[in-house]
Amino acid sequence: MKLLLVSHSRAGHTAGLAAIVHGAATEAASPGSEVVMLDAFDAGPDDVLGADGIIIGTPARFGYMSGAVKDFLERIYHPCLDKTAGLPWALFVKGDTDTTGAATSVERVVAGLRWRRVLPVLEVVGPVGELEAEAATELGATFAAGLEARIF
Ligand SMILES: Cc1cc2nc3c(=O)[nH]c(=O)nc-3n(C[C@H](O)[C@H](O)[C@H](O)COP(=O)(O)O)c2cc1C
Repeated sequence: MKLLLVSHSRAGHTAGLAAIVHGAATEAASPGSEVVMLDAFDAGPDDVLGADGIIIGTPARFGYMSGAVKDFLERIYHPCLDKTAGLPWALFVKGDTDTTGAATSVERVVAGLRWRRVLPVLEVVGPVGELEAEAATELGATFAAGLEARIF
Protein backbone atom coordinates (compact mmCIF):
# COMPACT_ATOMS: atom_id res chain seq x y z
CA MET A 1 0.00 0.00 0.00
CA LYS A 2 1.32 3.43 -0.89
CA LEU A 3 -0.33 6.51 0.57
CA LEU A 4 0.61 9.93 -0.74
CA LEU A 5 0.18 13.04 1.38
CA VAL A 6 0.51 16.30 -0.55
CA SER A 7 0.24 19.62 1.25
CA HIS A 8 1.65 23.10 1.45
CA SER A 9 2.28 25.57 4.22
CA ARG A 10 3.90 28.96 4.45
CA ALA A 11 3.61 29.87 8.12
CA GLY A 12 3.73 26.28 9.40
CA HIS A 13 0.17 25.70 10.57
CA THR A 14 -0.89 23.42 7.74
CA ALA A 15 2.50 21.74 8.02
CA GLY A 16 1.73 21.02 11.67
CA LEU A 17 -1.52 19.32 10.72
CA ALA A 18 0.21 17.44 7.90
CA ALA A 19 2.81 16.12 10.34
CA ILE A 20 0.04 14.79 12.60
CA VAL A 21 -1.81 13.18 9.66
CA HIS A 22 1.44 11.67 8.40
CA GLY A 23 2.40 10.30 11.80
CA ALA A 24 -1.00 8.72 12.36
CA ALA A 25 -1.11 7.22 8.87
CA THR A 26 2.40 5.81 9.25
CA GLU A 27 1.46 4.22 12.55
CA ALA A 28 -1.67 2.64 11.05
CA ALA A 29 0.16 1.35 7.97
CA SER A 30 1.62 -2.15 7.73
CA PRO A 31 5.42 -2.58 7.78
CA GLY A 32 5.59 -3.11 4.00
CA SER A 33 3.52 -0.05 3.21
CA GLU A 34 4.71 3.45 2.42
CA VAL A 35 3.31 6.79 3.56
CA VAL A 36 5.00 9.51 1.51
CA MET A 37 4.64 13.17 2.44
CA LEU A 38 5.54 15.77 -0.19
CA ASP A 39 5.22 19.50 -0.52
CA ALA A 40 2.77 20.37 -3.29
CA PHE A 41 5.57 22.03 -5.30
CA ASP A 42 7.63 18.81 -5.19
CA ALA A 43 4.84 16.33 -6.03
CA GLY A 44 3.97 15.43 -9.60
CA PRO A 45 2.04 13.02 -11.80
CA ASP A 46 4.33 10.03 -11.14
CA ASP A 47 3.74 10.32 -7.41
CA VAL A 48 -0.01 10.26 -7.94
CA LEU A 49 0.09 7.45 -10.51
CA GLY A 50 2.05 5.31 -8.05
CA ALA A 51 -0.29 5.91 -5.11
CA ASP A 52 -3.20 3.80 -3.83
CA GLY A 53 -4.69 6.82 -2.11
CA ILE A 54 -3.96 10.50 -1.64
CA ILE A 55 -4.53 13.01 1.14
CA ILE A 56 -4.36 16.68 0.18
CA GLY A 57 -3.79 19.45 2.71
CA THR A 58 -4.07 23.14 1.98
CA PRO A 59 -4.24 26.44 3.82
CA ALA A 60 -7.08 28.78 2.88
CA ARG A 61 -5.89 31.64 0.70
CA PHE A 62 -8.29 34.41 -0.32
CA GLY A 63 -11.21 31.98 -0.12
CA TYR A 64 -9.44 29.45 -2.31
CA MET A 65 -6.82 26.66 -2.04
CA SER A 66 -3.17 27.75 -1.82
CA GLY A 67 -1.34 28.57 -5.03
CA ALA A 68 1.01 25.64 -4.46
CA VAL A 69 -1.83 23.11 -4.27
CA LYS A 70 -3.44 24.65 -7.35
CA ASP A 71 -0.08 24.38 -9.15
CA PHE A 72 0.09 20.70 -8.14
CA LEU A 73 -3.43 20.01 -9.41
CA GLU A 74 -2.74 21.85 -12.67
CA ARG A 75 0.38 19.77 -13.29
CA ILE A 76 -1.14 16.39 -12.49
CA TYR A 77 -4.62 16.93 -13.96
CA HIS A 78 -4.16 15.82 -17.56
CA PRO A 79 -1.47 13.15 -16.99
CA CYS A 80 -3.70 11.54 -14.33
CA LEU A 81 -7.15 12.18 -15.80
CA ASP A 82 -7.66 8.85 -17.56
CA LYS A 83 -5.57 6.76 -15.17
CA THR A 84 -6.70 7.56 -11.64
CA ALA A 85 -10.51 7.54 -11.70
CA GLY A 86 -11.81 6.10 -8.44
CA LEU A 87 -8.64 6.90 -6.47
CA PRO A 88 -9.53 7.20 -2.77
CA TRP A 89 -8.72 10.67 -1.43
CA ALA A 90 -9.20 12.88 1.59
CA LEU A 91 -8.77 16.58 2.30
CA PHE A 92 -7.83 18.83 5.19
CA VAL A 93 -7.93 22.61 5.13
CA LYS A 94 -6.44 25.09 7.60
CA GLY A 95 -7.66 28.66 7.87
CA ASP A 96 -8.24 31.49 10.32
CA THR A 97 -11.79 32.58 9.55
CA ASP A 98 -13.48 30.65 6.72
CA THR A 99 -12.24 27.53 4.94
CA THR A 100 -15.37 26.87 2.86
CA GLY A 101 -14.08 28.33 -0.41
CA ALA A 102 -10.73 26.59 -0.08
CA ALA A 103 -12.36 23.21 0.50
CA THR A 104 -14.83 23.69 -2.34
CA SER A 105 -12.10 24.78 -4.74
CA VAL A 106 -10.16 21.55 -4.26
CA GLU A 107 -13.27 19.41 -4.42
CA ARG A 108 -14.33 21.03 -7.68
CA VAL A 109 -11.05 20.18 -9.40
CA VAL A 110 -10.93 16.67 -7.97
CA ALA A 111 -14.51 16.04 -9.11
CA GLY A 112 -13.11 16.37 -12.64
CA LEU A 113 -10.53 13.71 -11.87
CA ARG A 114 -13.33 11.45 -10.62
CA TRP A 115 -11.46 10.50 -7.46
CA ARG A 116 -13.53 9.11 -4.57
CA ARG A 117 -13.48 11.12 -1.35
CA VAL A 118 -13.71 8.47 1.36
CA LEU A 119 -13.72 10.66 4.50
CA PRO A 120 -15.39 13.93 5.45
CA VAL A 121 -13.31 17.05 4.76
CA LEU A 122 -11.42 18.18 7.87
CA GLU A 123 -11.68 21.96 8.11
CA VAL A 124 -9.66 23.57 10.90
CA VAL A 125 -10.53 27.22 11.56
CA GLY A 126 -8.27 28.91 14.08
CA PRO A 127 -5.51 27.43 16.21
CA VAL A 128 -4.71 23.74 16.24
CA GLY A 129 -5.67 22.55 19.72
CA GLU A 130 -6.21 19.14 21.19
CA LEU A 131 -9.50 18.49 19.37
CA GLU A 132 -8.08 19.54 16.01
CA ALA A 133 -5.01 17.37 16.54
CA GLU A 134 -7.28 14.45 17.40
CA ALA A 135 -9.30 15.00 14.24
CA ALA A 136 -6.11 15.08 12.15
CA THR A 137 -4.91 11.88 13.82
CA GLU A 138 -8.22 10.21 13.05
CA LEU A 139 -8.07 11.33 9.43
CA GLY A 140 -4.59 9.90 8.88
CA ALA A 141 -5.18 6.69 10.79
CA THR A 142 -8.59 5.97 9.24
CA PHE A 143 -7.40 6.68 5.73
CA ALA A 144 -4.36 4.40 6.06
CA ALA A 145 -6.33 1.64 7.80
CA GLY A 146 -9.03 1.80 5.12
CA LEU A 147 -6.47 1.46 2.36
CA GLU A 148 -4.75 -1.42 4.15
CA ALA A 149 -8.08 -3.22 4.60
CA ARG A 150 -9.03 -2.43 0.99
CA ILE A 151 -12.37 -1.04 2.14
CA PHE A 152 -11.73 2.25 0.33
C1 LIG B 1 -2.57 35.59 1.70
C2 LIG B 1 -3.41 34.92 2.73
C3 LIG B 1 -4.73 34.67 2.50
C4 LIG B 1 -5.52 34.05 3.45
N1 LIG B 1 -6.83 33.79 3.19
C5 LIG B 1 -7.58 33.13 4.11
C6 LIG B 1 -8.93 32.80 3.84
O1 LIG B 1 -9.47 33.06 2.78
N2 LIG B 1 -9.63 32.16 4.80
C7 LIG B 1 -9.09 31.83 6.01
O2 LIG B 1 -9.76 31.25 6.83
N3 LIG B 1 -7.79 32.11 6.29
C8 LIG B 1 -7.03 32.74 5.35
N4 LIG B 1 -5.72 33.03 5.63
C9 LIG B 1 -5.15 32.54 6.88
C10 LIG B 1 -4.38 31.26 6.69
O3 LIG B 1 -5.08 30.32 5.93
C11 LIG B 1 -4.07 30.63 8.03
O4 LIG B 1 -3.34 31.54 8.82
C12 LIG B 1 -3.34 29.34 7.90
O5 LIG B 1 -3.27 28.75 9.16
C13 LIG B 1 -1.94 29.59 7.41
O6 LIG B 1 -1.48 28.39 6.95
P1 LIG B 1 0.06 28.07 6.93
O7 LIG B 1 0.58 28.41 8.31
O8 LIG B 1 0.11 26.64 6.65
O9 LIG B 1 0.71 28.91 5.86
C14 LIG B 1 -4.94 33.66 4.68
C15 LIG B 1 -3.58 33.90 4.92
C16 LIG B 1 -2.82 34.51 3.96
C17 LIG B 1 -1.35 34.75 4.22
